[in-house]
Amino acid sequence: MNNDVSDYDLFSYDYSQYWTKRRYEDLAEKHLLNKIFQQKSGDWFIDIGGSYGRLTSTYDKKYKNPVILDYSAKTLRNNYEVLKNKYPNINLIAANAYKMPLKDNVFDGGLMVRVLHHIENPEGYLKEVRRIMKPKSTYIQEFANKVHLKAILRALLKGNFKIFSKEIYEQPSISVTEGTGDNIEGIFLNYHPGHVKELLEQNNFTLKKKIGCSFLRIPFLKKLFNDQILLFFEKIMQVTLSWSNISPSIFLETEVKKKSSDIEKFETLGDILACPECKGSLHINSDIATCEKCKKVYEKKDNVWDFRVL
Ligand SMILES: C[S@@+](CC[C@H](N)C(=O)[O-])C[C@H]1O[C@@H](n2cnc3c(N)ncnc32)[C@H](O)[C@@H]1O
Ligand SMILES: [Zn+2]
Repeated sequence: MNNDVSDYDLFSYDYSQYWTKRRYEDLAEKHLLNKIFQQKSGDWFIDIGGSYGRLTSTYDKKYKNPVILDYSAKTLRNNYEVLKNKYPNINLIAANAYKMPLKDNVFDGGLMVRVLHHIENPEGYLKEVRRIMKPKSTYIQEFANKVHLKAILRALLKGNFKIFSKEIYEQPSISVTEGTGDNIEGIFLNYHPGHVKELLEQNNFTLKKKIGCSFLRIPFLKKLFNDQILLFFEKIMQVTLSWSNISPSIFLETEVKKKSSDIEKFETLGDILACPECKGSLHINSDIATCEKCKKVYEKKDNVWDFRVL
C-alpha cells in the first residue's frame, strides 16, 4: 500500500484561493456540519487535513480544545495569527495523517473533509485515526463520491459500466491541479460509497448517518441561481435525498467502536503529543521535543510544531 503524501508546500499552493469561487459548496458543507455538531460537545477535537481552518467555525464552540493537523506547515504558519485571534483555543500541528504525533484515546470528536482523495491507503489511515479517538467518540469522514449522478451519466454515455464497481477511481491528473503546480500530477481519488462504508465498518467505526452534500454542483445551475437560492434547495436535498448516492460529496458520521479502558484526562497540547514515528513519550523543552524512546528530535517554529514524517 502506498502512503505517499500530497505535499501542498512543494508548490506553495494557497488552498484558500480555491474557495473564492465556491461559496455555495462552502456554505453547503458548513450547514451540514453545523447540524451534526448541534448535538455534540466534548473536550479535544481534531480536524485532519484542516488546512487554513475553513471549517473551524462549525466545531470550535462545541469542543474545548480544537486541533488542526495538516501536512502543509506553510499553510498553518501563514494562518496562525488569524486563526488564533478568531479561535483562542486552537492548536496547529504540522504532521502526516498516516503517522500522527498523538497519544491513544485523546479525541471526543474528529473529521476529515476533502482529504480522502489524497489518501491511497485508507485502511492504514483509518487504523491510525481510530487509535487517537476515544471509545464512542464521533468521527466524520467525507469523500469525493465516484458514483454521483453526473459521473454515472457521463460514464454510461461512454459505455463505461465499470463505474459501478467498488474500485477507487483516480481522476486524470490533467483535470486536477489542486495542491500542485500547473500540469503536475496530483493524487485525486474518488471513492465508491459502499467501499468507504466497508472500510469504516471493517475498522470498527459504526455508521450513524450518511449525508449527501453539494447536490447542485452543476455549472449551469450555478450560473443561473445565486448562492442563497442554491443553498435553500441544498438544505432540502440534504434531508430528502441523502439515502441516494447522487451527490458528488458524501459525509459519513460514525462512532468509534473500542473497549472503554481507563481514559486519561488531557489538559494541554503537551499532554496529548507523542512521537509520530514510534509513539514514544516526548520530552518537551520549550520549542524542542525529543522522543524518549527513539531519540528523534522535533521542532516548533513560528508557533507550529513540525512533526512531519513519511
Ligand atoms: C483539499 S485540502 C482540504 C482542506 C480542508 N479539510 C477543507 O476542507 O477546507 C486538503 C488538505 O489535506 C492536506 N493533506 C493531504 N495529505 C495529507 C496527509 N497525508 N496528512 C496530513 N494532511 C494532508 C493538505 O496539506 C491540504 O491542506
Ligand atoms: Zn520515537
